[in-house]
Amino acid sequence: MGRMEGKVALITGGASGIGLSSAILMAKEGSKVVIADFNVEGAKEAAEKIRVQGGEATGIFLDAGDGKSIEEAVDFTVSQYGKINVLYNNVGLTNLRKDLDVVNMDLEEWDRLMNVNVKSVLLGSRYAIPHMIKAGGGSIINTASMAGFASDSIRSAYGASKAAVVNLTKYIATQYGKDKIRCNAVAPGLILTPAAKNNMVPEVLDVFSKYNALPYHGEPEDIGYTVVFLASDESKFITGQTIQVEGGHYIANPSIPDMKEFAKKTQS
Ligand code: NAI
Repeated sequence: MGRMEGKVALITGGASGIGLSSAILMAKEGSKVVIADFNVEGAKEAAEKIRVQGGEATGIFLDAGDGKSIEEAVDFTVSQYGKINVLYNNVGLTNLRKDLDVVNMDLEEWDRLMNVNVKSVLLGSRYAIPHMIKAGGGSIINTASMAGFASDSIRSAYGASKAAVVNLTKYIATQYGKDKIRCNAVAPGLILTPAAKNNMVPEVLDVFSKYNALPYHGEPEDIGYTVVFLASDESKFITGQTIQVEGGHYIANPSIPDMKEFAKKTQS
């Protein structure tokens, strides 16, 4: 029996990368999945692949920047499969050309990223929670980012939006815990999704490798397995948490090399 047998899950941004990997793994574990994505062709293809492998899946259109579209995706899930047990709010955007430092960032981009990255989490949860209460509980999972914990020279809106996702996760967990609804987040470090692979030159990947505690990069499945755990009843006593899946990139004090240098000098 699969770890998610009998469950129904809605995954936003499920046509590619982290969302796709999570959808495939959830389906393998027995969940019926609705893959909702701006790229509706990609969502349908992903669902078809899952069905060919014996799973149950449907691909639909979603614009996570539009509340009506989010409501329709939740309603579709319930009408298609009779209930919703798992909502994976995974869509998130960044824009390296417009999401800059505080003085120079494009304010319209700030609003757009807050809308897509944070408000979509609020609205997905708002529409799914009444159905989850009817179903006797549920699990909401949000994709945050390590950018919500550590700052950067640019991407101010992205970082602030992902920090908001971390805290909103706790609010949802607090407000609906007694209804047996859990809410957790996963905070990826660099994950080699197709988009990340295409956008990053080897030199930049080497910089990331240098600061990872582990000798390899993250893959979409590293997030997917974490999401399956949070979606399944195996994590039934875990709520309000954000699990950092980042290869140990952010765990060490960044001044350690300088301190080692200092120690060497003082010992000699
Ligand atoms: P991706 O680009 O591989 O996939 C994102 C999917 O979301 C695509 O299928 C795209 O069509 C869909 N999408 C984009 N805007 C949408 C919208 N408005 N409505 C509906 N669907 C939309 O991206 P990836 O890397 O899998 O990212 C997924 C999540 O992981 C995002 O929230 C991102 O911020 C987060 N993340 C990713 C990291 C990485 O290194 N890949 C690191 C930290 C966080």
